[in-house]
Order: sequence, then C-alpha cells, then structure tokens
Amino acid sequence: MNRKQLNIGLFGFGCVGYGLYQVLKETPGLKTTIKTIVVKHPGKARAISPGHFSYDRNAILDDPEINVVVELIDDADAAFEIVSRALKNGKAVVTANKKMIAEHFDELLRLQRAYDVPLLYEAACCASIPIIRNLEEYYNNDMLQSIEGIVNGSTNYILDKTSEEHLSYSEALTLAQEKGYAESDPTLDTKGFDAKYKLTILLAHAFGLSVDPSDIVHIGIDRIGELELAYAREKNMKIKLIAHASKNAAGNISAYVLPKFVPEGHKFSSVDGVFNGVIAQTSFADTQFFVGRGAGAYPTASAVLSDLSALTYDYRYEYKKLTGNEQLEHNEHILLKVFFRHDKDVKPAYGHYFDSIEESYTNANHAYVTGYISLKNLAELYRNDEGHSFIQLDHAARIDTKKTKKEESAYAIIE
Ligand code: HSE
Repeated sequence: MNRKQLNIGLFGFGCVGYGLYQVLKETPGLKTTIKTIVVKHPGKARAISPGHFSYDRNAILDDPEINVVVELIDDADAAFEIVSRALKNGKAVVTANKKMIAEHFDELLRLQRAYDVPLLYEAACCASIPIIRNLEEYYNNDMLQSIEGIVNGSTNYILDKTSEEHLSYSEALTLAQEKGYAESDPTLDTKGFDAKYKLTILLAHAFGLSVDPSDIVHIGIDRIGELELAYAREKNMKIKLIAHASKNAAGNISAYVLPKFVPEGHKFSSVDGVFNGVIAQTSFADTQFFVGRGAGAYPTASAVLSDLSALTYDYRYEYKKLTGNEQLEHNEHILLKVFFRHDKDVKPAYGHYFDSIEESYTNANHAYVTGYISLKNLAELYRNDEGHSFIQLDHAARIDTKKTKKEESAYAIIE
C-alpha cells in the first residue's frame, strides 16, 4: 500500500509539541516532514532556535503544501478557531485538545463530514493508551456494558504522592506541573473538568452519544480531606478519580466523574502515579483492562505519532455508533453508594437527598455518612456547600435493577 506523504504544520511547541518533534526525528520510517511550526510568544525560551518558528497562523493555514495540521496548544478557544479553519481548508487535523473536542463535538463532526477531511485525537484521552481507536473499531461487534477509567494523570499522580509518600497536596501538584502532566490551569485537572472532557469523548466512541460536557456530573480531588484519607488507610483502600459510563436499567447511559475508594486487589489499585487505566465491561468478552502512561511529553506524542501514521493510510473515524440504529440516551438515573463528609457543626439537611443511609459517624472534629444517593441529588448537594465531599464506595461494578425506597422507577445501582 502506498502511504501518503505528510507535510505537517505544527501549532504549539510546549511539552507535547517538543515531544512530538523529538519522536518524529526518531521515526524516520514515517513519511512526514514538519514544514512550519507556529507558536504564540516570540520571546519565550525554547529548546530549538527561534529560526524554526513562525508567529503567524496563516503561515500554516494558508499554505497549500501543508496537508496535515497538528494542533498542540493549550488554549481551547484558539484551538477551535485553528482546527475549524484547517478543516475548512481541506487539511487533515491531529489534536490532543480534549476540552476543545468535548465542547465542540457536534460542530467538529459536521466539519469533518462537510469538508471530507479526517480529525484524529487519540492523544486527547489517556495519552499513550490506544483507547479511542479500540472503542471505535473493536467494540462495534461486542456489546459494551460499561467503561470506567482513571483518565487524568495529574490527579492520579497527586493522589499517589499524597497518600503513599505523604507529600502535601500543593507539593504533589507542583511536581505534577514540573513534570509537564498538569494543564496550564491545573484546576481543570484537580476539579475533574479534564476527566469529564475525556469522558465526553469516550462516550461518543463507546456508546455513540454526543453529550454536552456541562450535562455530566463531575467532582474532582480538590475537596478530599484528612478524614477520607484516614478512612481509606484504615480500610486498606486507595482513592482514585474515576470517569464512569454505564448502561443503566432502562438501557440508557449514565456518566459521571467521581473520586472513588478502590480496594486492594482491584485492577485500578495498581494504576499509580501518572498512569491511566480503563476497564471495559463487555457482554461476551467479560472484562478488558487497558493501562499506560496518561500524561507527559513522550506518551502523548506517541499517540499523536500513531494518528499521523494512521493518516498516511487515510484512516478516519467513521463514528458508526453515532449514526447506528441503537440510539441511547444520556440520563442521571443511577444510584450510587457514597461516603459523604460534611461539617460536623453545620449539619446539612442531607437526609432527604439520600435514598438510604447505612452508617453515620461523628467525632470531635468530623462527620460523615455512607449511603445511597441518586447522581442528581449528589450533584445538587455538592453544589450547595463547599465543605462537602463525596467519594464513591465499593467497586464491584455490579449493576442491578433493585427498586429503591423513594423511586418507583428502576434505577441502576452501582455497588
Ligand atoms: N493534564 C492531563 C492529565 C494531561 O494530567 O491527564 C493529559 O491529558
């Protein structure tokens, strides 16, 4: 097969841009040339000489010899402008920008179809794990029941360093930033936004659902306190930030990002540091587990490289599940078993939010309850007070249709 020659226009030369530059130098077999690199700030110190750079985005977008745009900047709005113009100009695009993809999914799909050009983004989810192409291709014939994953490297690294090596939260975050794992605005990582954007993309390729990210409940790791850490230690568990999507009792999809207590021996328990992991629960093949580095220059560049390689043989996502017969809906009809910490002295009226309470605990300083709560109520309760924290309990990924006390409709219960 004759593989296409790629003339690349590269936007951005940060951690991943530089990683890609190096990785391409070490992959001479791939027929690619970086023709132009466009960056924003002329004065910034960079690993290669200023002569390599242009500061005018038209130097790429209007160059007819450039057939592939690689977009690796951190500003999602500017990235969207660049990527849309590139697609309109008939250029294939590779991007790692999960926020941009999640926020503009439908429009990006429309542009790919209208201008008949591919947009690939394996690097946008779990960096080195080839999860998008697997969901897109492999699971077409194997019914997926759920996917859940540790999809953010920075938070996994921070949780690991704070609980295992007893670093403070801010020390661990600084290290994650120094290593190039964190976003320029690290609250995107710590508050769970980044994981949610990735989940939005996974939902499209796993279940054919295009969901507005603002409709997905997400909680990050920024409110996890000493009580939760002590609870985890006492019960020999770890806390992981998990993105989850599963078919609920009515056959629709519930999705959320929540910190979760993971027991020793669980597959996610061994996914430490910057590693990511994804578990797919299928109808016929049981469980499959993907693991790999989830952030950092080379692991992310390696996914970009794989997309470039795929473009040389004209690969594109077909989004078959988005157009298939089985149209699923996204809703919040799911009951979760959670650990809920609240301020001991300002007891929120949490009782009516919970479906049932199993355990209630108060000491001189703290208070928590465990019990079942709907995703909708959890989101509402979380919004109401910054002193609250939720961690999901139990991890056996059992879905059943037990009727709840307060709901006539059958909710899925994840225990
Ligand atoms: N900030 C992201 C993370 C980078 O930590 O996972 C990779 O997407």
